[in-house]
Amino acid sequence: MRAIVQDRYGDPDEVLQIREVDIPSPAPGEVLVRVRAASVNPDVWHAISGYPRVMRLMGAGLKRQKQPIPGLDMAGVVTAVGHDVTDFRPGDAVFGETHDQIQWINGGAYAEYVCVPQHVLALKPGNISFEQAATVPTAGIIALVNLQKHIWEKPGQRIVINGAAGGVGSIAIQLAKANGAYVIGVDHTTKLDYMRSLGADKAMDYTQEDVTELEQAIDLLIDVASTLSLSSAKRMLKPDGLIVIIGHDHYGAKGRRTLGGIPYFLGLMLWARFDRHLPWPSFGSMEKRDAMEALRGMIESGALNPVVARTFPLSEVPTAIRYLQEGQACGRIVIVP
Ligand SMILES: NC(=O)c1ccc[n+]([C@@H]2O[C@H](COP(=O)([O-])OP(=O)(O)OC[C@H]3O[C@@H](n4cnc5c(N)ncnc54)[C@H](OP(=O)(O)O)[C@@H]3O)[C@@H](O)[C@H]2O)c1
Repeated sequence: MRAIVQDRYGDPDEVLQIREVDIPSPAPGEVLVRVRAASVNPDVWHAISGYPRVMRLMGAGLKRQKQPIPGLDMAGVVTAVGHDVTDFRPGDAVFGETHDQIQWINGGAYAEYVCVPQHVLALKPGNISFEQAATVPTAGIIALVNLQKHIWEKPGQRIVINGAAGGVGSIAIQLAKANGAYVIGVDHTTKLDYMRSLGADKAMDYTQEDVTELEQAIDLLIDVASTLSLSSAKRMLKPDGLIVIIGHDHYGAKGRRTLGGIPYFLGLMLWARFDRHLPWPSFGSMEKRDAMEALRGMIESGALNPVVARTFPLSEVPTAIRYLQEGQACGRIVIVP
């Protein structure tokens, strides 16, 4: 099969090559999927570049990625199943991440075939394309986990999503609107109409306006871009308002090459014990399969319509990653093998 392969960590333009490699065989509990579409998110850049370095100790591989084929989110068709697979059969259309480890570990999705544990997959909704389905897993799980914990029980809240036109934000706007929220989306000048088209009640331009000075009485701030300081963000919150920081490293622009945002998040977790505006992080609060099933239901009901920013062929993965880094995408970029 054709696959994108990396032999070492480094700049995607320098370390990625397209090669012929063997089709993998499914281990017990895994299915072999013919990949119809895969998507590109900021974690793919981390996995390929090897930054922050600590990821190499967290299972990715010390000198190179143990799995040489990058790509985590995909949609495709099951072509074979390993022993003990009971949930899927050949011919099933599925979507999901390709493993259940940290997102900085290569997932093998930038290839014509990939083996995936059955417990992280869901059946692809019939009312969207494979390209749309591939945009959903990582971003959808982050958006769902953080929204359902804080707003599902209390519809009608005022929510600010900072970085609302990216992969996570595009889904978060739609899920929040489906829950009756008033949504203020903040992103770049070029993405204001896009945020409104997803349902945002108000779209703000971060290059011109400071949402923390203009908005008040906010129930929930979801800071996907992770660019707002805690003290200024608190200015716009209700007394019981909450701040959820997703953690965007902007491709190493923040420095933090060794430990990344880990010390910052550990500090936040400690601080959360004393600060009523900081909820306990949502990591691991929902099984991936359950999240994928919930997202499937929302897509089938029409509450969520995943957005493809642009597609690239498999051979152009480095170009696709550069396009993501340049900040041009509204929604998710998709790779079609
Ligand atoms: N917390 C978790 O559980 C978890 C798990 C996995 C991954 N993550 C992280 O979550 C992030 C996912 O984000 P994503 O996929 O949605 O990223 P994305 O697609 O890159 O979207 C980020 C958006 O933020 C915008 N932006 C940049 N600077 C901004 C600013 N100062 N103010 C407002 N908006 C700004 C970007 O626009 P421009 O670039 O055009 O300015 C872009 O539209 C990744 O960094 C990933 O590592 C978190």
